[in-house]
Amino acid sequence: MTKLPSKLPNIKILDESNKLLHRVSEEVQFPLPQEDKKAIQDMMDYLEMSQIEPLREKYDLRAGMGLSYCQIGVLKRIFVVVYEVEEGKFDRYIIINPKIKSESEEKIYVSEGEGCLSINRPTEGIVPRCARVTIEYQDLEGNKQTIRVREELAICFQHELDHLNGILFTDKIDPKNPFKGKDTYRAI
Ligand code: NI
Repeated sequence: MTKLPSKLPNIKILDESNKLLHRVSEEVQFPLPQEDKKAIQDMMDYLEMSQIEPLREKYDLRAGMGLSYCQIGVLKRIFVVVYEVEEGKFDRYIIINPKIKSESEEKIYVSEGEGCLSINRPTEGIVPRCARVTIEYQDLEGNKQTIRVREELAICFQHELDHLNGILFTDKIDPKNPFKGKDTYRAI
């Protein structure tokens, strides 16, 4: 069990109107400065707190599963994911310098539409994502790691990896035909 801080970490999530969110983030060098480690911890605490209902209400948050470093204004190739595996139990992922090693042919999409803590307006449309991806990345110490993720987690990882390349999920929706190809992909 992770011990959560007694109050919400002080991080400011940028809105899509900010230019930084449309730029490509840079490869991370090691060792990681303490300030980066602190920010990573804060981002994960924030996400976990946003998924716990009483805290979400207390701090008036939107629930979020993933956050990229660029979303708080730092253009380094780092993202974090906090995933509730069962009621009240969260898995945390810290992904640095990720590269996709392989991806499934099968495509899926979130039936109610993807969301993003940087997009604060109603959106509609589907974003086809690979149902499974294998990603090579570095951990906090710079060690090479490989992870294979599927379904909801796979979508989240691809969404965050897009952030590192300055791409928002809304960039992937055709405004003229937001549900294009819907029947070709599997809804989750
Ligand atoms: Ni996002």
